Amino acid sequence: MTALDIRDLSKSFGGLEVISKLNLVVADGQRHAVIGPNGAGKTTLFNLVTGWLRPSSGEILIHGVPLKHGHPDAVTRGGLSRSFQKNMLLENVTVLENLRVACQASHSSRYAMFRSKDSFPDIIAKARRIAEMMHLDTALHRLVKELSYGQKRQLEVAIALCAEPKILLMDEPAAGTSPDERERLIELINKLPRDLTIVLVEHDMDVVFAICDVITVLSYGKVLATGGKDDIRSNPQVIEAYLGNDHA
Ligand SMILES: Nc1ncnc2c1ncn2[C@@H]1O[C@H](COP(=O)(O)OP(=O)(O)OP(=O)(O)O)[C@@H](O)[C@H]1O
Ligand SMILES: [Mg+2]
Repeated sequence: MTALDIRDLSKSFGGLEVISKLNLVVADGQRHAVIGPNGAGKTTLFNLVTGWLRPSSGEILIHGVPLKHGHPDAVTRGGLSRSFQKNMLLENVTVLENLRVACQASHSSRYAMFRSKDSFPDIIAKARRIAEMMHLDTALHRLVKELSYGQKRQLEVAIALCAEPKILLMDEPAAGTSPDERERLIELINKLPRDLTIVLVEHDMDVVFAICDVITVLSYGKVLATGGKDDIRSNPQVIEAYLGNDHA
């Protein structure tokens, strides 16, 4: 089964075409990286796939269902969730509160007519469970602003998990982390259930290679190459456009 099927997708801002006839297929359960230089269109691609932005043309299917842009809630209910490149956390609120709000948001939109079913204790229990998955169970009652940078990045992923996604998009989850924090993040992401499909945008190639089996390289909104680690590492075009010789 195909988790994500992107067909001839284009997006222009004014006269600038940022995504250009892009085709991308992500199989169910795949760990798929999207890499490429700054401004290649990676975040824009995520904004299109989540329904935040309307494409200029083309089509996006999530588990075979065409995406209706302008309905990010419906996209979440369709099983897709994302974490952000920039910090979107509530800084003066505890870890548990951040997670509770995120869990409640996905619950109430899903079962609006049966809200009494989603009791407060259930939601708290779920928030705690997700905190544990992302190794935040000892920091539940700390304010976000007191967390280390790495813990904040763990919380970003945890919040995205509250929607119980089948597909998780992560936009540079390791950006700005120390080497130790990065190791921990890789370990936690690799422990997530194997049937979770992950699309990862990341500049750090060690993170990409540690998490993903398939890599798509974007350049100026076009797919330069898609393939396994070795294909990508040895692709001369990719080396020239992005990797340089460090990872080849
Ligand atoms: N809302 C917008 N309006 C106009 N131009 C935009 C908008 N959003 C993005 N762009 C432009 O689209 C191009 C792609 O941006 P995008 O943020 O998708 O790149 P990226 O691959 O995520 O880069 P980075 O690695 O730096 O995060 C850039 O030239 C950017 O300036
Ligand atoms: Mg970006």
